[in-house]
Amino acid sequence: MTDTTKSATLTIGDKTYELPIYSPTAGPDVVDIRKLYGTAGVFTYDPGFTSTASCDSTITFIDGDKGILLHRGYPIDQLAEKSHYLEVCYLLMNGELPDAAALEDFETRITRHTMVHEQMHNFFRGFRRDAHPMATMVGVVGAMSAFYHDSTDINDEWQREVAAMRLIAKVPTIAAMAYKYSIGQPFVYPRNDLDYASNFLHMCFSVPAEEYHVDPILSRAMDRIFTLHADHEQNASTSTVRLASSSGANPFACIAAGIACLWGPAHGGANQACLEMLKEIGTPDRIPEFIGRAKDKNDPFRLMGFGHRVYKNFDPRATVMKQSADEVLDLLGIEDNPILQVAKELERQALEDPYFADKKLFPNVDFYSGIILEAMGFPTSMFTPIFAVSRTVGWVSQWKEMIADPQNKIGRPRQLYLGETQRDYVDIEKR
Ligand code: ACO
Repeated sequence: MTDTTKSATLTIGDKTYELPIYSPTAGPDVVDIRKLYGTAGVFTYDPGFTSTASCDSTITFIDGDKGILLHRGYPIDQLAEKSHYLEVCYLLMNGELPDAAALEDFETRITRHTMVHEQMHNFFRGFRRDAHPMATMVGVVGAMSAFYHDSTDINDEWQREVAAMRLIAKVPTIAAMAYKYSIGQPFVYPRNDLDYASNFLHMCFSVPAEEYHVDPILSRAMDRIFTLHADHEQNASTSTVRLASSSGANPFACIAAGIACLWGPAHGGANQACLEMLKEIGTPDRIPEFIGRAKDKNDPFRLMGFGHRVYKNFDPRATVMKQSADEVLDLLGIEDNPILQVAKELERQALEDPYFADKKLFPNVDFYSGIILEAMGFPTSMFTPIFAVSRTVGWVSQWKEMIADPQNKIGRPRQLYLGETQRDYVDIEKR
């Protein structure tokens, strides 16, 4: 945080208060209101944190108006094109791109930790057979703290590092196991000779009865999906991880909290909701009906995969994802897929509609990721688990940054209380 000589003046009644302003390396200045209650006796009010910076961070920067997303300064489109997921993981966690030796060491360490404790298989079997894979993931990732005691001391830097590596390495295995369990197939062990994305496809789609070959284009598309979802600064699930860990909770419990938050349809659950919506629309002639519903204030329906809290121009991840969708569908020879036709026509009609233009609603990353995942053979229930796999590195990097920060305090928002003032208890016979 750069201290500046700038300050803001707040006037309440006949009193004025000077509030320091800090300038970030990029983005708008922030007004420091931490001492406001102590000096002026008032709180600030900002439901949904639309104007509140909850922390300082050096990991990811977003300029929503310009459609910019940077990880440690590097633009997402360059990373998606030239880098790959595990290199981006290293970058997010360590702040710099690795040299060849550091990358090899990092990849080896991740690859060697992809297996989960064998006893975890029994834990899976406790879930109902038709459990949603996200339900299973929340439970099993949380349960990692019961299996890996030796990396739960958050005050030990080495244990924090081990926990981070374990999470990045094992969450894909857990997601694939949750999927296999939900379809009644045997768990598939990870393979150390495959790269991260190929290994995930192998664990999801391979069966003991036959050899499974991972198509390099599908593996590249999978890697891109992981890369594009790797981190997104202080979004709802990341803020949940930070808030959970601010109490000193162990990393596995905190990441499980992040997974639970991600599940919601306004966040990571949007990719599943988007594809379900496209299927419900079914044919292009029904699109005007659904656009009409999305615009109707009395109808809770929203166009899933449209809009974003921060991006108000375009989502830079959506641009890369759209290109990937074209590549994958071309490879699989399914460019005339009916869902894709609906998606393309919906996008066209919505972008031409003044309602969406005026409110700056554009397709977000989830609008296209669902189409790719469906084409690859994933059921909709796996879309959000795949997002959770990708985002684990973002959660872990933000968690590590937070724990290492000496200013780290328990997160404890205040409130605008609108309930009853103090009143006396009334005995039941008098109510
Ligand atoms: N369809 C129709 N109208 C919409 C949509 C939509 N998808 N999104 C926003 N609006 C409208 C709202 O009704 C509101 O209108 P109003 O000003 O007349 O009341 C206005 O646009 C602003 O919307 P808010 O909900 O206030 O914006 P917010 O920043 O809080 O919400 C969100 C952003 C949650 C992403 C929202 O756009 C949405 O629900 N989108 C659909 C779900 C989705 O795709 N989520 C994925 C997000 S990306 C991610 O997590 C990876």
